[in-house]
Amino acid sequence: MNAFDIDTATTLAGQTRHFLELDEIPAADLRRILDVSSELKARRAGMPKGAPDPDAPLDGHVLAMVFAKPSTRTRVSFDVGTRQLGGRTMVMNGADLQLGRGETIADTAKVLSRYVDAIMIRTFDPADVRELAENADIPVINGLTDHSHPCQIMADILTFEEHRGPITKRKIAWTGDGNNVAATWVQAATAFDFEITIACPESLRPDDEILSAARAAGANLTITENVREAVAGADAVVTDTWLSMNDPDNVRERRHNLLRSYQVDAELMAHAKPDALFMHCLPAHRGEEATAEVMDGPQSVIFDEAENRLHVQKGILLWCLGLI
Ligand code: CP
Ligand code: NVA
Repeated sequence: MNAFDIDTATTLAGQTRHFLELDEIPAADLRRILDVSSELKARRAGMPKGAPDPDAPLDGHVLAMVFAKPSTRTRVSFDVGTRQLGGRTMVMNGADLQLGRGETIADTAKVLSRYVDAIMIRTFDPADVRELAENADIPVINGLTDHSHPCQIMADILTFEEHRGPITKRKIAWTGDGNNVAATWVQAATAFDFEITIACPESLRPDDEILSAARAAGANLTITENVREAVAGADAVVTDTWLSMNDPDNVRERRHNLLRSYQVDAELMAHAKPDALFMHCLPAHRGEEATAEVMDGPQSVIFDEAENRLHVQKGILLWCLGLI
């Protein structure tokens, strides 16, 4: 007999059952709830079980998504990608969690690990993501920090290769703010063996730590303030917003002054290879980091990049869960 077969006579038979106060519910019913709960816990142990269904490899899995910053692409693409693979998702704003009231990241990691199968987090400080990962028993995916945006660059490399073939030995030129997205292009350069040139004002260079690590790993990396030189002969010209989500609004005017000459316009694109791609992770500000003519022109692949977030994150999820 299992717990579902226990035929406990309940004094609430025939009534609508509310769960409001323990001293209003018959003791036998409370005991029955616990018995059934134990059985459900035992049935769930080790789930999901068996070989994954190739059409729904994430069946039985739940991805928790935690956002401390806004998102359109990351949120929707992870949600849809997980569902397409047969899994389920839940979205939480960082401020809605007890984390916002001082519960530690370590405790949050341990608690979420008891409920869900993976966590995707978008937040400010990369140290918080690292701490979450170090304390979680389940995979943690970086959905953007002030420091990096790895899912984006995986999608961008897939996009480049769909249009232009292998990225190996090709030249990627970044122009503008040396932000989290620029830094991640630098991080990817060694693994994918491409040349990366960053044109940015000295004060807006990517983190020294990331540049040093890339150089130590043998990256073909150039940092310059000469945007035309950076773009010369490039296979792709890449830029991003001049003000990231972690930047305070009071730097706006200074940023615009510093970055105006780094704008991607048709004249700058003409310094790259004739078939160079224009790339941008979005969201974009037409007339700031790039003109509308370039953003919506024939060399632009911005919406392919957005679409590929969906496809690449499915691969990332399967890898994280040990399914590939
Ligand atoms: N590119 C990107 O990460 O977009 P969202 O901020 O909309 O997620
Ligand atoms: N650099 C941008 C990327 C947005 C996807 C930001 O961090 O706001």
